[in-house]
Amino acid sequence: MPPSEPIDDIDPLTRMAIKYGTDKWGGHFYTPLYHELFAPLRDHPVRLLEIGTGGYDLETVGGASLAMWAEYFPNGSITGIDIAPKRLSIDPRVKLFQGSQIDQAFLGEVADERGPYDIIIDDGSHEPKHVAASFHILFPYLVDGGMYIIEDVQTTFWPQFGGSILDGGDTLKLATTVIECLNHAELAAVGQSPSFPPFANQIKSLRAYHNILVIEKGDNCEPSIGAYDFNNSYAVNAAGIIEQEMQGTPTPGGLANLIELYLLGGNLLAAKEVADRALSLWPANASTLVPAYKVASALNDASAKANYFGRILQIEPKWGGQIPSLDHLMAERADELRAMRETLTDWEVQISSLRQFIAEQNERFANLQEQLISARQENLVGSQEAAAVRQENSAIRRENAALQREYYTVFRPVLRNGLRLARRLGGSLPQPCQDVLRASFYGLVSRVAPKSALAHEYQEFRRRSVSRRPCDRDA
Ligand SMILES: C[S@@+](CC[C@H](N)C(=O)[O-])C[C@H]1O[C@@H](n2cnc3c(N)ncnc32)[C@H](O)[C@@H]1O
Repeated sequence: MPPSEPIDDIDPLTRMAIKYGTDKWGGHFYTPLYHELFAPLRDHPVRLLEIGTGGYDLETVGGASLAMWAEYFPNGSITGIDIAPKRLSIDPRVKLFQGSQIDQAFLGEVADERGPYDIIIDDGSHEPKHVAASFHILFPYLVDGGMYIIEDVQTTFWPQFGGSILDGGDTLKLATTVIECLNHAELAAVGQSPSFPPFANQIKSLRAYHNILVIEKGDNCEPSIGAYDFNNSYAVNAAGIIEQEMQGTPTPGGLANLIELYLLGGNLLAAKEVADRALSLWPANASTLVPAYKVASALNDASAKANYFGRILQIEPKWGGQIPSLDHLMAERADELRAMRETLTDWEVQISSLRQFIAEQNERFANLQEQLISARQENLVGSQEAAAVRQENSAIRRENAALQREYYTVFRPVLRNGLRLARRLGGSLPQPCQDVLRASFYGLVSRVAPKSALAHEYQEFRRRSVSRRPCDRDA
């Protein structure tokens, strides 16, 4: 059991609750909360309505909380309603009415006389159906800034009051409706518009405590961040105030936020103006570069987009979560890349020596052909000299065929292994990086032996080999 509070530490409303004998403190623990909420209003001419005078069907019993309110609000006018008739001697600022908390006409008549109210407290039947009905009837009679309080919310779970353990009962459903009203702009932003009560945009807040709900009435027209709109006065006001503050003391975060707001509201020109301003002050700050990148995207400005993208990656190499920068990847795979480069350099050396060989062989063929032509011209066919030339020709042809095999035996694996290496190296990377890696491999290979030149050379080589055949026939 917690120790007793020293009497001096008890707030004045709780003292009054104890004095008049309401269960708003002791049985429940509402009065410290009420004092917290109402203390600023104490001297105001507060109009308070309480459902449930107390005493049930005893006509001369009840009014404890009404007496408490009358003392707490010395300038207040207090109204109590109860379904049972009451004969109570009570402060003249308290007026009692007999009627049901779900009787719309009755509540309207009382409100015409005593309302609109600054505070409404439902401490009546506590049947969840009644609680919800009273709220719908009475909320419109609350002033802007007023508070609607529902006590004994526990009954929403209690079957003996018509509540439900399973679905929480009507008070809980009312709380859900109030939360939906609070967020009507958010529901509309995703295309959902349940049938809101007419006062949906007058629900300012809902506070829930043990057994008690406090619903504040007030303007609820703030825009949704999911459908920001510069036709909304809150949005215009916010942008204006942030703009003013940023003119005085700009900060990267403040300007970034302003850019985002203009983007959200679709004011791209203003967003771009602030983005340019932010980048002129902080050219290398990710918090301003990222919204500037978004502005460039929204404006389809590809070059600004690429520029900001590169600058962001220098600061945030993993930005975007998907495409790490190539530099970052290169650093991660530096060893593999170095090994690959070394292999390619080896191949480059081998290929260039083979090329040189082929060039020499081609030259020898050309010379031989010239000799054969001049031999034919000199009618030396069948002569000893022609036989010698023919012999040399077939030796070179064999040598050439072997060379050709060697050339392609070496070069084909260069391509095949190189591609395999690039795929293995790139296989675990995101697709864009694989493409970059493959392209860089092809770049290296084509520097070593451009594919088209190779094909051309190969064709040329074959053509020359075939063109040797007349010599064979000559033999
Ligand atoms: C818990 S007492 C109120 C206590 C009082 N507010 C206090 O704190 O001293 C509940 C009162 O609500 C009244 N009541 C029950 N059903 C009602 C209804 N449908 N409409 C109005 N009052 C009702 C009861 O007669 C009873 O006097």
